[in-house]
Amino acid sequence: MSLSIVILAAGQGTRMKSELPKVLHMLAGRTLLEHVYSAALQLNFREAYIVYGYGGELVPKRLSHLQAVSWVEQKRQLGTGHAVKQAIGHVPDVDDVLILYGDVPLITYQTLQRLVDAAQDSGFSLLTLKIDDPTSGYGRIVRDDEGNVTRIVEEKDAEGDETSIREINTGMMTVQARLLKRWLEDLNQDNAQGEFYLTDTIQMAVEEGIAVSSTRPDYVTEIEGVNDRVQLAEMERYYQMAQAHHLMQQGVAIMDPMRFDLRGYLEAGQDVTIDINVVIEGNVSISNNVMIGPNCLIKDADIADGVHILSNCVIDNAVIGKACRIGPFSRIRPQTRLEEDVHIGNFVEVKNSQVQSGSKMNHLSYIGDSEVGKDVNVGAGTITCNYDGANKHKTIIGDNVHIGSDTQLIAPVTVGKDATIAAGTTVIKDVEPNVLLRNQLKQKVVKDWGTELRKTPE
Ligand code: UD1
Ligand code: CA
Repeated sequence: MSLSIVILAAGQGTRMKSELPKVLHMLAGRTLLEHVYSAALQLNFREAYIVYGYGGELVPKRLSHLQAVSWVEQKRQLGTGHAVKQAIGHVPDVDDVLILYGDVPLITYQTLQRLVDAAQDSGFSLLTLKIDDPTSGYGRIVRDDEGNVTRIVEEKDAEGDETSIREINTGMMTVQARLLKRWLEDLNQDNAQGEFYLTDTIQMAVEEGIAVSSTRPDYVTEIEGVNDRVQLAEMERYYQMAQAHHLMQQGVAIMDPMRFDLRGYLEAGQDVTIDINVVIEGNVSISNNVMIGPNCLIKDADIADGVHILSNCVIDNAVIGKACRIGPFSRIRPQTRLEEDVHIGNFVEVKNSQVQSGSKMNHLSYIGDSEVGKDVNVGAGTITCNYDGANKHKTIIGDNVHIGSDTQLIAPVTVGKDATIAAGTTVIKDVEPNVLLRNQLKQKVVKDWGTELRKTPE
């Protein structure tokens, strides 16, 4: 028997007060729906059907990279039963169907695996949980005297003692497709909300003598949905703290886990220290003995052993070699590769450039579309003028070149190895190795100028 997964994601999420469909809101750098999907992905399943609606094609377009997914539109949101019905026609009769919500992002695959396994014996399994205060819109699990599940009653339809039932329906369930197809046909809208309730299928199962089993999640957070931005922010902090704890347990020193954000994946070696307000995005790998100072953004980067990144740096899509020293206030832009022991200092921007080992650019420079050799010294205020208004051009700087401060290199241009460029030079042609290059400058002196003339005329 194989497993089909149906993820309900058609709702607007009115309380988010947003044009963006709720499932596209971000938690730790990924959409809510991607969180649910990645838990599901760890199960062995045939196909996932995602039911979308509010926001139209935006949801499938934004998430078109998800594998093994069929997108099913629910034009009008007439209830959870109606939503599942849109997808069920595509599901083979022999499959089991696991139903998930696209706005319940912290569900774990371990819990889902148990839920799926439970349906092997009973034919119908529900994920339920007893909570202290169930009065926030949850359906209640009604059981008979022997403790068997008999039906689910929605909060708005609950009568008498039913409202005080503390066991709630999380909404997640596994059921045989063959049976579900039939029951969905029989749903009606005779209820307080005038919707097709998926939960009405439970009573139908019980009436046919099918046992309904229940499974509990490991953590209460697994079943929490996101309804507004306050809940989303709280969930973000919870999730970030969990990620920080995990990293710390693996040996990463995080100076303040309350001020650490990982929006993606971080692989970190030993004795990595991360100071406060560091944001890590995308796929980042950090090797051993790396220190990251406060207020850095590091995205899609590969950072080798012994690198020190001082405060307030932005590193995006770059490879940083062993023992480099970067910052404070440096910006390393995409397609940059620094070899060993390169120093990049304050207010230096490096883009699409390779810098070989031992080179230094410590102050106020822009190095773009460049190849910089070994042991090059780039003086303060050096600019590679890579853009002529139409095209980008390359600057090539040989090994052991010394560039004086305030130099402009008009690309395309090559500076041969061991050359020296005097301060204030505008380099307009290729420079041979080993020379000293300086522009013809005349220094004009006006005698007896004094200080009187500095004053503004009256
Ligand atoms: C549902 C359950 C309730 C359970 C609760 C858990 C029903 C009738 N009730 O209630 O027992 O305790 O979830 O949170 O199933 N959706 C669609 N299309 C629709 C309606 C909903 O895709 O037409 C999606 C929503 O986007 C959401 C999920 O289904 O992801 C649940 O919908 P929601 O309206 O939140 O269900 P509740 O009324 O809260
Ligand atoms: Ca809900």
